[in-house]
Amino acid sequence: MGIILEGKKLNKCFQTGGRRIRALGDVSFSLQEGEVLGVVGESGSGKSTLLRLISGLDQPDDGRLLYEGRDYTGMGPRQTGAFLQLLFQDAASSFDPRCAMRRSILESGRGRQDPQEISRLLRMVGLEEELLDRKPGRLSGGQCQRMAIVRAFYSGARILLCDEMTSALDVTSQAQVMEIMQRLKEQGSLSAIFVSHDIALVSNICDRVMVMKDGRCVEQGDTLHVIRHPADAYTKQLIESARKQGIE
Ligand SMILES: Nc1ncnc2c1ncn2[C@@H]1O[C@H](COP(=O)(O)OP(=O)(O)OP(=O)(O)O)[C@@H](O)[C@H]1O
Ligand SMILES: [Mg+2]
Repeated sequence: MGIILEGKKLNKCFQTGGRRIRALGDVSFSLQEGEVLGVVGESGSGKSTLLRLISGLDQPDDGRLLYEGRDYTGMGPRQTGAFLQLLFQDAASSFDPRCAMRRSILESGRGRQDPQEISRLLRMVGLEEELLDRKPGRLSGGQCQRMAIVRAFYSGARILLCDEMTSALDVTSQAQVMEIMQRLKEQGSLSAIFVSHDIALVSNICDRVMVMKDGRCVEQGDTLHVIRHPADAYTKQLIESARKQGIE
């Protein structure tokens, strides 16, 4: 076990209509193998931007990214796909609508043909084999998200970047997906960054958490410690409002 993924002083500005927005300012993090790192913060605080930079969908203005100690700054999503996969809120739109699941999943394996591995992964997420013949439009949101987990693991990636992955799901599907994530974590096969606005989910699955505000990391530490004894005023406020909503 060691550090599998690292970001050092990541910066990103966007120019929109003459305005310059600092979406991310000097954000650093490290992810240990087998660890789930939570990222919380209000809307617009830079959580998705951080994941987009890590995955190579966007490039940082400056800062460095490392996978197993090797610099991969500047790589695009095609290359980073070998070691990390994104899971979005809207899993269906991450699949080609014209393709049956089987094909999308096989393609993620870069030519590897291993139907037994796909069957094993399907069992792991509790999906029937016959669903492999369906296109994304004919699956429920929860089934699609579970297929996305299958695809991510079939690709051979060792890191999952989850951006509000359960937000679009009903309570039952959300619980199913979180149970799968929890199981993967217990097996030690999950290294992930888990972005969510739901403090309860974060406190259940994340070992450590970082709190973002206005593109900066205001606090970072052991999840339960941060939730019970927030050092930063903004974190206190965030947890307080989650409690008021009856989430925590
Ligand atoms: N492509 C872009 N062009 C211009 N501004 C952008 C772009 N992407 C993000 N931003 C801005 O950067 C800031 C951070 O956005 P980001 O999507 O990372 O926030 P977030 O924390 O994921 O929010 P949410 O919880 O609503 O998903 C916001 O002010 C957003 O408007
Ligand atoms: Mg976002």
